[in-house]
Amino acid sequence: MSTKLSIHKDFDLSSFNTMGVSSKAAFFAEVASVPELQEAIKFAKDKNLEILVLGGGSNILFKKDFDGLVIYNALKGRDFLSEIDLKIASGENWHELVLFCVENGLGGIENLSLIPGSVGAAPIQNIGAYGVELENVFLSLEAFMIDSGELKTFTKDECKFGYRESIFKKELKGKAVITSVTLRLSKDHTVNTSYKALSEKLLEKGISEPDIKDISDCVIEIRQSKLPDPKQIGNTGSFFKNPVISVQHFNQLKSEYQDLPSYPVTERQVKVPAGWLIEKAGWKGKRIGDAGVHDKQALVLVNHGNATGEEIWNLATEICLSISTEFEINLIPEVNLIG
Ligand code: EPU
Repeated sequence: MSTKLSIHKDFDLSSFNTMGVSSKAAFFAEVASVPELQEAIKFAKDKNLEILVLGGGSNILFKKDFDGLVIYNALKGRDFLSEIDLKIASGENWHELVLFCVENGLGGIENLSLIPGSVGAAPIQNIGAYGVELENVFLSLEAFMIDSGELKTFTKDECKFGYRESIFKKELKGKAVITSVTLRLSKDHTVNTSYKALSEKLLEKGISEPDIKDISDCVIEIRQSKLPDPKQIGNTGSFFKNPVISVQHFNQLKSEYQDLPSYPVTERQVKVPAGWLIEKAGWKGKRIGDAGVHDKQALVLVNHGNATGEEIWNLATEICLSISTEFEINLIPEVNLIG
């Protein structure tokens, strides 16, 4: 096996994470093929280095330098396995895939428009937005298993998807590198307009029978109005998960805060929007140095310029403390923390 893989030392990761914090990787390699990936993994194994795979870097916070090998995923390609089953290499950009599907009349992921990041990152946290989650269209994925060196196929059940969760964030964290994802899309798709913000936007635009392009356009508009563009201001989308609390706890809170929104989970549990809690606690638009809370969506932490990962993390910790004191709710970060 001989490839052109080059491995860089003390590599600056500032432009490889959308929060834009400065951090260094002891070693860095960009891989554009499975043999290159294998070579990079061998390098790490030989040197006993921890491996971190980076796609778009849009859901990660570097609190300090990374002492192992960062593998930047540049695996590219799309392959139709049938008219509606599409296999996509993990290094492809997610939003470009959504646009490709919309242009080609393939429904299923239009609600997931404009989510930053790569295709390979999508199953790790089962990305979701506006009433749709990746698992709704997911068929299978292939991953390179670091310990055994095998390429393994995972079915949907094997991925153990949950709300912003999968086996790759838990048991298999750091043990598998996703190389491709296969989605089952639809040619006669019934669009999902269940999410309030989306149905309101369609109404506002006078669209009564939306097609997948209308949905994609509306989602893009909503996201652009609320969520900061990482190219303009560093951020990682939602910083926390929406917490799930008991119905009893919710009813107590609701008697005090009549406008508290909620989404049903089970008979006994509801999900409440962390953004609402953070805003209610007075954090929206606040900043400590260059670490801030976005002024249009309090669930998003932003880097106003030169915040360090540690400073963003300190702000997150302050927010957690305040939400715990005010609502007796523990917020859990949605982003992956390094360090
Ligand atoms: N809200 C506030 N103040 C805020 C933010 C939200 O009161 O500052 C309220 C809204 O008015 C609304 C509710 O909270 O009643 C929900 O807000 P929104 O529709 O903006 O969604 P979210 O629950 O805050 C989740 C996802 C987003 C996804 C949207 C739309 C999580 C952690 N986040 O946010 O995902 O785009 O729903 O489906 O589940 C991401 O994961 O990075 C992400 C952006």
